[in-house]
Amino acid sequence: MTYNYKVVRQFAVMTVIWGLVGMLVGVWIAAQLAWPQLNFDIPWITYSRLRPLHTNAVIFAFGGSALFATSYFVVQRTCQVPLFAPGLAAFTFWGWQLVIVAAAVTLPLGITTSKEYAELEWPIDLLITAVWVAYAVVFFGTIAKRKTPHIYVANWFFGAYIITIAVLHIVNSAELPVTLTKSYSAYAGVQDAMVQWWYGHNAVGFFLTAGFLGMMYYFIPKQAERPVYSYRLSIVHFWALIFTYMWAGPHHLHYTALPDWAQSIGMIFSLILLAPSWGGMINGIMTLSGAWHKLREDPILKFLVVSLSFYGMSTFEGPMMSIKTVNALSHYTDWTIGHVHSGALGWVGFITMGSIYYLVPRLFGRTQMHSVRLIEVHFWVATIGVVLYIAAMWIAGVTQGLMWRATNPDGTLTYAFVESLKATYPYYYIRVLGGLLYLTGMVIMLYNTLMTIRGGKAVDAEIPKVAVAHA
Ligand code: HEM
Ligand code: HEM
Repeated sequence: MTYNYKVVRQFAVMTVIWGLVGMLVGVWIAAQLAWPQLNFDIPWITYSRLRPLHTNAVIFAFGGSALFATSYFVVQRTCQVPLFAPGLAAFTFWGWQLVIVAAAVTLPLGITTSKEYAELEWPIDLLITAVWVAYAVVFFGTIAKRKTPHIYVANWFFGAYIITIAVLHIVNSAELPVTLTKSYSAYAGVQDAMVQWWYGHNAVGFFLTAGFLGMMYYFIPKQAERPVYSYRLSIVHFWALIFTYMWAGPHHLHYTALPDWAQSIGMIFSLILLAPSWGGMINGIMTLSGAWHKLREDPILKFLVVSLSFYGMSTFEGPMMSIKTVNALSHYTDWTIGHVHSGALGWVGFITMGSIYYLVPRLFGRTQMHSVRLIEVHFWVATIGVVLYIAAMWIAGVTQGLMWRATNPDGTLTYAFVESLKATYPYYYIRVLGGLLYLTGMVIMLYNTLMTIRGGKAVDAEIPKVAVAHA
């Protein structure tokens, strides 16, 4: 049986490269917050332009390439057929790279719709739509011609992510073009805000969560060599998660002009969301039942399982932050940034790294990565990096929130804004250090990947049996 692994290889390698680029920009903007002169007074590299470049690069270039690579691999393996429409699959690779390059050019030039996570202007939006439709045709076409009687649960999550992102992108990007580089949203005022955060939150739920849960359901059982703990729980997990996420968006708009009842619905659904999120996490972690000892020696499994701990942590923290009185403290502060990165670095980053380390040797006919010890080093460097990053942001965030709300007996503010900024600086330095460590991990990963590719050759047939990695 020959599979189409070429496109999987291409996306897998680009995952590592874009990860490195996106995180480098992340470290740069983190450094700009600590030392503002690092923008050198050049408009193209000011914080406001590099920040969306960072978010687009890490979410859509790094995360997106990982999702394309793993979904194309998993759908072929679990359906036991090669990809449907290989020409379209190739188009998704080149089209997606073009979207990324267009983003890398337009964002530093200041060309933006100013909608967070949907900053790209309308011509790029059209290209994204074309690529996404092609992606859906390839993915669901492969499911339709499958040789297996049932559709494995990982594909349910990948399928839900593909459909939902299509709907979110089309609705939130509805806009009126006025020139080639400028458009205006089809919505106005509070409706615009509501559509934007329905999009924004579901981008978290489906781009940064559902697709990565697809990875969890395939790569954890494979690497642990154990069946999924409970298949029944995975089905309940799927339906509960996709139903609940849709309604939680208004928690981004607490205490705004959005009607109070809509804010409360957002809060309630966010609290409910704890249950399916933890159900999924438990299902992933319990898959290791009877194989816990493997965690000691297999660094790939460490990445995969520790990602679930961070997933559990951020999906506990998120519902708490959605409670209005907690949000009154956390909103606008670095606590939100800490929450984002415990999900982004700990969950999305780690599950991706584990999955790519699983894939690379198999795609290049090797029995394991060039150096298993370097995977172990990557794991520890990255773990220390995440912990430094998020702990610093928690302390910074709570400090800011408390200082902003402190009042004197006569009702005046106790602190000027600049005092809270000064109090934040030590934590900004710690974040730069944490980010640098995380970035160092990516450099190690790139080196290890390139060396593995150098010593192997592209494989498109049945995959050689890969020895489980030992450090
Ligand atoms: C070396 C690693 C990284 C560093 C140093 C870093 C640093 C930063 C910084 C400084 C900001 C701006 C914070 C602010 O405006 O106050 C930011 C925002 C953001 N980053 Fe990262 N980042 C890294 C990796 C990642 C990764 C891997 C992801 C996603 C997979 C990610 C997703 C985001 C998102 C979504 C935001 C916007 C948060 C918001 O608007 O609330 N970052 N990052
Ligand atoms: C049960 C799950 C979750 C809930 C209920 C939740 C809830 C929240 C809340 C209440 C905020 C703060 C909104 C504000 O004050 O502006 C927030 C921000 C955010 N969360 Fe979560 N969260 C969850 C999981 C996650 C995960 C797993 C990730 C990443 C992989 C993530 C990424 C983000 C991002 C990127 C933002 C910042 C959005 C922005 O303002 O730009 N969340 N989340």
